[in-house]
Amino acid sequence: MSELETLKAQALAAVSAASQLSDIETLRVRYLGKKGEITALLKGLGQVSQEDRPKMGALINAVKAEVDDAIVERRQVLEVEAEDQSAAANAIDVTLPGRGTGRGALHPVTLVLDRIEAFFKSVGFDTVYGPEIEDDYHNFEALNLPEHHPARAMHDTFYITDSVLLRTHTSPVQVRTMESREPPFRIICPGKTYRVDPPDPSHLPMFHQVEGLMVDETCSFADLKGIITEFLRVFFERDDLKVRFRPSYFPFTEPSAEVDVQCVHCLGKGHCRVCSSTGWLEVMGSGMVHPRVLEMSGIDSERFLGFAFGMGPERLAMLRYGVSDMRHFVDNDLRFLEQFR
Ligand code: PHE
Repeated sequence: MSELETLKAQALAAVSAASQLSDIETLRVRYLGKKGEITALLKGLGQVSQEDRPKMGALINAVKAEVDDAIVERRQVLEVEAEDQSAAANAIDVTLPGRGTGRGALHPVTLVLDRIEAFFKSVGFDTVYGPEIEDDYHNFEALNLPEHHPARAMHDTFYITDSVLLRTHTSPVQVRTMESREPPFRIICPGKTYRVDPPDPSHLPMFHQVEGLMVDETCSFADLKGIITEFLRVFFERDDLKVRFRPSYFPFTEPSAEVDVQCVHCLGKGHCRVCSSTGWLEVMGSGMVHPRVLEMSGIDSERFLGFAFGMGPERLAMLRYGVSDMRHFVDNDLRFLEQFR
């Protein structure tokens, strides 16, 4: 066998034995590259005699073409194999059951906020939002709670500076609305509120309130009673739910009343842990807006009257869903939250 034949046989055997794409490249360089063995033979043609040169050239070129073809062909085979392998490695078993994404649910306090908002929307109240970081004026002063007023003690709060704080109730949103809107109007203000109350079964340092305010030329305590009673009956889905208004005190309303509902747990039958056997549950504060509060926000108290009320969605959620501890609302325990799906 001539040297050329041997080289060809070697090259073809090596190519067909190659099992990796990288081997193929090595072989291409070794035989056909600039310094490759077949290339070297072609370069060596100069030494061959004039008369043999064309014949030798043709022979070497034929071998070169054959090896080149073999390399191209083998490379294609290996490429397909490599693709198949990676597809198999990344394969998805379409017969496996899905992992499932789990259906989300609204938080019980959100559910209650939505119910409150839906009711008040149906009787003409707009929903208004305001800042959670408030100034002393809107949180206290403008609500007839001047500095050193004893009622401020019930609102021990988180101060950011001497006159900037986390709002202790949503009433400042009412002040902001009275300052910016012309009466008549009806609004509710839902949102987060903050007080320095260490968490216990009925307190959280961050909780929600929904306050309502109606200002109009004819706006009476009877309207307040009517709307609140209807709201509580719709909320607790009990047409005959008893509601009572108990005289109370708030600096920003006069007269003021706490609103109690008949205990939704024992229905007033007593021996009850939810209402401490009193038969009643306190659910809201309310009253006619103090004329001074209207005046401070630029509303003519000779012409307009207002009523206001405020409730705690956490408390309403506890009563509606039978939740015994307010801390469940912020524990993020799925066993609790999943029950509201
Ligand atoms: N803002 C009062 C509070 O947080 C609740 C309230 C609102 C009472 C409106 C009366 C009228 O205690």
